[in-house]
Order: sequence, then structure tokens, then C-alpha cells
Amino acid sequence: ARTAAVIPAAGRGVRLGPGAPKALRTLGGTPMLIHAIRAMAASRAVSLVVVVAPPDGAGEVKSLLDAHALPERTDFLVVPGGESRQESVRLGLQALPAEYDTVLVHDAARPLVPVDTVDAVIEAVRGGAPAVVPALPLADTVKEVAPAGAPGEPEPVVATPERARLRAVQTPQGFERGVLVRAHETVTENVTDDAGMVEQLGLTVVAVPGHEEAFKVTRPLDLVLAEAVLARRRL
Ligand code: CTP
Ligand code: MG
Repeated sequence: ARTAAVIPAAGRGVRLGPGAPKALRTLGGTPMLIHAIRAMAASRAVSLVVVVAPPDGAGEVKSLLDAHALPERTDFLVVPGGESRQESVRLGLQALPAEYDTVLVHDAARPLVPVDTVDAVIEAVRGGAPAVVPALPLADTVKEVAPAGAPGEPEPVVATPERARLRAVQTPQGFERGVLVRAHETVTENVTDDAGMVEQLGLTVVAVPGHEEAFKVTRPLDLVLAEAVLARRRL
């Protein structure tokens, strides 16, 4: 069994505000993407990392990989991404050599995921689960709302799902390769994560414990938290 990690890193990072593409913004002086690659390569089970670069940034990403120390035992590929995350993941999957039968999909925007979480996901796939997500209980109660009349207007609450049964889902998500490829060939609508596409095929997805430090860097405040986590690790 061989495991590869696909890292979608082609997004602009609109919610983070103006600047370089999000994956190339730095944390502790090192691009977020390099942190994410190291987090995948830290697992002894991962022998290939496929980086899906901004469409016009594959050259820049290749130079970055050359400029930073990465484990010798890991192979790297860089491919240009697409318009949506889903498209970027699909392009990454297309570049995957035949010998890989387990695939992780990991957001470049989750640079600090601990290796134990990565290994737990791989372990569950190798144990027979076709699709695995790291997930955490929620701190906030979640409400379903109806669309408001106009932007900024109050939204009627229509339901409150029982919080104890809800999970916030992270990456890396892990898959039997054939299952993820089939999902990307079949499912095209209402997609927010890769495991959701597998659910739409009617297959069972399982959740393993996620980790607080696998949070996604989405808004400016997340960068503050990420810098603090990194500083604490370096103590
Ligand atoms: N992603 C991608 N290709 C896209 C869009 C997103 O590879 N066309 C990647 C991002 O680079 C990121 C991951 O998908 O690593 C999760 O997406 P998100 O956090 O939404 O990042 P962005 O789309 O870049 O941010 P925003 O939505 O704020 O623009
Ligand atoms: Mg996005």
C-alpha cells in the first residue's frame, strides 16, 4: 500500500485580504504551503506529495520547493490548479502515478496539522474505510436559517440541530484512491468537501478525532492564531 497526499493550494485567499495567494503567505517567515507540505511529509507513510499550485504560479511553487529543506524520502509533483477547489483536487488526482492506492487531500490553508492526525487518517483508510475525515465537536451551537429578504436583514431561524451530534470537519481527508476518483467523475453539485462527494455516491464516510491545530487559516485573525501556535512550538 502506497500513500500520496494531494495539497490544493490554488486559491486566492480572498477572505484573508489583499496580498499574495494564501498558500504563499508566510507563517514564522516560511510560506504556509511549505508548512503544509512538511506536515504531510512528516508521516512516514506518505511517499509522494502532489502540490496543486495557483494556475499561473506552478513555476514559483517549484522554486519554493527547491529553496526549502524537505524530507529526502518524499517525492514531489507540482501541477497547476483550477477555478474551484474541486477542480484543483481533480487536477491533482489526474497527476497521481498508478502505484498509489491511498490518497490524502489536505488544504494548504491548514499548515499546522500534527503528524499524529495525518497518521490516524491513513491508518483508518488502510483498516478498510473507503473515506475518512478528521473531525472535532463544535464549541458553538449551530442554527439553520431561512434566506433573508435582503443582505444585512435579520434571518429567521428554522432549526437547531443537536450540537452533540455535529462535527466540524478538517483535513487531511483520506480515501481509497478508486473511490475518490469515482466521486470526482460523478458528483458535480453541492460540493464543499471531498468526503461529501463520497457520501453522495452512497458510501460510508467515517470520522476520526481531529486536532485543534488543524484549523483552517481563512480570515486575518486565523493568521494571528497560527503565528502564536508556531511560536509556542518553537519554545
Ligand atoms: N483551493 C484550490 N483551488 C481553488 C480554490 C481553493 O486549490 N480554485 C484550495 C486553497 O488554496 C486552500 C483550500 O483549497 O488550500 C481551501 O480553500 P479556502 O480556505 O477557501 O482557500 P481560498 O479559496 O484560497 O480562500 P477564499 O475562499 O477566502 O478565497
Ligand atoms: Mg475558497
